[in-house]
Amino acid sequence: QELAIGIDIGGTNTVFGIVDHRGDISYRGAISTRKHNNVTDYINELYDALLPAIDEVGGINAIRGIGIGAPNGNYYNGTIEYAPNLPWKGVIPLAQLMTDKFKVSCSLTNDANAAAVGEMMYGVARGMKDFIMITLGTGVGSGIVANGQLIYGHDGFAGELGHTTIIPDGRKHKGTGLHGSLEAYASATGVALTAIEFLERDNHRDSLLRNFAKEEIDSRVVYDCAIQGDKLAQEVYEFTGKVLGLALANFVMFSSPEAIILFGGMTKAGDLILKPTREHMEKNMLPIFQNKIKLLFSELKEADAAILGASALVWEMKTV
Ligand code: BGC
Ligand code: NA
Repeated sequence: QELAIGIDIGGTNTVFGIVDHRGDISYRGAISTRKHNNVTDYINELYDALLPAIDEVGGINAIRGIGIGAPNGNYYNGTIEYAPNLPWKGVIPLAQLMTDKFKVSCSLTNDANAAAVGEMMYGVARGMKDFIMITLGTGVGSGIVANGQLIYGHDGFAGELGHTTIIPDGRKHKGTGLHGSLEAYASATGVALTAIEFLERDNHRDSLLRNFAKEEIDSRVVYDCAIQGDKLAQEVYEFTGKVLGLALANFVMFSSPEAIILFGGMTKAGDLILKPTREHMEKNMLPIFQNKIKLLFSELKEADAAILGASALVWEMKTV
């Protein structure tokens, strides 16, 4: 069969598509990731959402397999393990559960790893052998490619760069309990928390953000205010870029990549985030790395890199 189903599980939404060998995606769809605390209910909803597309291409027999990119996904085991940003706790044997439900084999990997593979096959990382994919969304993830190969590590969890500490004794991450992690600052939630902190710290300062209740402030609102010229909102991006740039400098010195590719919701902020990130990345690296590392945005639209990378698991199917 020449078709695969690619699924990208995000902390907020799950997106999917049917993908052919050339990387063309059809029958895209999405469901909420957060609606069900029970993973069986989630899988049932995903099944119902995919069924019309599967019927359209001639039934499940036309599908060679399902590939999934998931936060805290483990390729070796086909599991999601202790995901801080998902509603399902503990170890979830998702690949097996999906195989049982869909009656077709299913492979799973970390979502950022999937995005890295998608970018390598179809995106800006084509032809690159050493790069780091950083996904900035509800969580912060990474896929590290060295020598043309994704790094999995001994237990399969390599590249949890979002949970590296950037600020000692910094903000506590609700889901992990860790302090000062990159994810606590550079995720969508982190941006909103920074905005709220800045508003409270300078509580006499004028800002468009004051038109919103605390609960209404999310990264979208901060972005809207920043592009309308709001200084405080712009400073939120400068600070976020400072934290992210420092982290990237560390990652560069760890693996000497050709490029770092940023992917996910936050990249919609464009130069607002890119400029301070680049500045602080350069500032924190040894001269041997300076002005050499490409800092790029994914050019594949929306979550396509992750859907494509997940579907790529199918062509090299490993059965669980
Ligand atoms: C998880 C990663 C994931 C990232 C983006 C992090 O919280 O630990 O596995 O890649 O979020 O979803
Ligand atoms: Na990863």
